[in-house]
This record gives sequence, structure tokens and C-alpha cells, in this order.
Amino acid sequence: MAEIEGVIKGQSMEASASPEQGGRLLMCAPDHYDVDYVINPWMQHNVGRIDRKLAVRQWKSLHGLLSNAAELKMAPPSPGLPDMVFTANAGLAIDQKVVVSRFQFGERRSEEAVFKSWFEQNGFEVAPWPDDVSFEGAGDALLDRGRALIWCGYGFRSSAEAPRFIEDIFDRETAPLRLVDPRFYHLDTCFCPLSEGWLLYFPRAFDPASQQKIAAIVPAEKRIEASERDAAAFACNAVQIGGRIFMNEASEDLQNRLRAAGFAPILSPLSEFLKSGGAAKCLTLNLSER
Ligand code: ARG
Repeated sequence: MAEIEGVIKGQSMEASASPEQGGRLLMCAPDHYDVDYVINPWMQHNVGRIDRKLAVRQWKSLHGLLSNAAELKMAPPSPGLPDMVFTANAGLAIDQKVVVSRFQFGERRSEEAVFKSWFEQNGFEVAPWPDDVSFEGAGDALLDRGRALIWCGYGFRSSAEAPRFIEDIFDRETAPLRLVDPRFYHLDTCFCPLSEGWLLYFPRAFDPASQQKIAAIVPAEKRIEASERDAAAFACNAVQIGGRIFMNEASEDLQNRLRAAGFAPILSPLSEFLKSGGAAKCLTLNLSER
């Protein structure tokens, strides 16, 4: 068994990426990170309870791991915008074109202008977006890794109308999924498309029709279901680069299933960010989607 595992691990590491191959990610240093308000259930009892030093250490560890695998770009941390660290919500960028997020809650709306100017200064074409349609970027829009398809989450933060605008702007089919568990209020908290058409997800975060839609698109042998415990530890909030999958935490069982599928899970503890309802994936935005 150890030998088999070694072989599988070896294969995964071969597929691992160097900074040049791993694409570009946007992050934002946690200079002003805190839980100052409550806009999701994770934040509920955590206002003022962030261990700031630990948060900085955890963020730096993740940043260090990712910097060996991808090129990292930095958005400017802004005072008064404690959630800016969650750059997944800056927008959705594909092929140098970006839709800047239109946040559901006033608490995060001032991030829009900061991210918009970052995208403009970095050569992205900003697509027009209707003011009255909420959309929280790559938090609620994930590209499938094996199919020409964008999975879109709606129900908590992004409007049910968002997917058809995304479809028009990027000229790509979307699969809208309704989120029903308030703990998993963004698609990327419970759903992670992986290369070769694999999917890591927590089925019960979705309504029955959406669960069926997922099952109709992704064959059973390619679906890796997270237990409620793993999902609540944000195991699905993962960043895949090459064969490696960076995540807060995962049970031995889930790690073994990921390895059997050819991936190498890499754990980077992010407890202080879970208190705000985010983890590895939320702390990054993929800037090199095609
Ligand atoms: N506190 C932030 C919020 O509620 C967390 C965002 C997490 N981001 C994500 N892509 N899931 O908006």
C-alpha cells in the first residue's frame, strides 16, 4: 500500500507546477484584515476575535507555498476594507477581460472601485455590468477544468440573473447552481472543479435540482464528495496548481481519495480566515484563466 501510495504521490508531484507554469494569482496582504461586521454565519461570533498575528502568519505561509507554484500579483490592502484579502471576490477574469464584482452587501461595496482600478492598471478590459445585479466574482463562478463551462452559484450573494450576463460577456455556457445552506454562501466554499473533469464538492450545499444537474454533467466516478465535516473545514475551498491542491484541512479519508485520483493535497492551516467564512481559494483569484 505504502508503495502504491508512493507511486501515486510521485505521479502527482511530476504534475506539479513551477511559478512559470502555474499561472498568475491575485492576492491581497492581510494588513487590514479583521472581522468587523457580520455578513455570513461564520462571522457571527467572531467580530473582534481574530488573532491578527496568527492571521498574518497563516496568510504568509499560504503565500509562500503558492509563490513556489505560480506568479503572485498583489492588490493594495486598503484601510476599512477588512475583506479585501478575499480576492476571489474581486471579480471574474478570463483572457484579460474582467467582470468586477457587484457586492450584495454595502459592507464590501467600496472594494469594487479599488479592484476595478487594479484591473485597469494591469491591462484588463473591464466589461460593463448592470448595477442592480449582484455578482461576487470567482467566489460564485468557477471554470470547469475539463469542459467548456462556467459553474455559477446563486442564492445568497450572486443574483440568479448573473449567469446569463456571464454567458454573454465571456461567450461561454454556464451551469447555474442554487446554493441552499447559509454556511456555504459562495460556490467556492463547497465546489471545486479539478483537472481532467474531476470535481470535489459537498452535495447538500445545493438544492435537489442542482445536485441532479451536477450529476448529469460530471460522471459518478469523477465526483469526489466531501463529508459535512470536511466541507465545514473548507476542504472544498481549494486551489489546484499542477497536481497539487492547496487547502486549509482535509481528513485522511478525503486526502486518500484525492491521492487516488492523482492529486497531492497540501494543507495550509487558515483558522483565522475561516472565522470570516473563507480559506485558501477565497484568498486567491486566478488571473490566467483562458
Ligand atoms: N467575509 C467574507 C464575506 O463574507 C468572506 C468571503 C469569502 N470569499 C469567498 N470567495 N468564498 O464576504
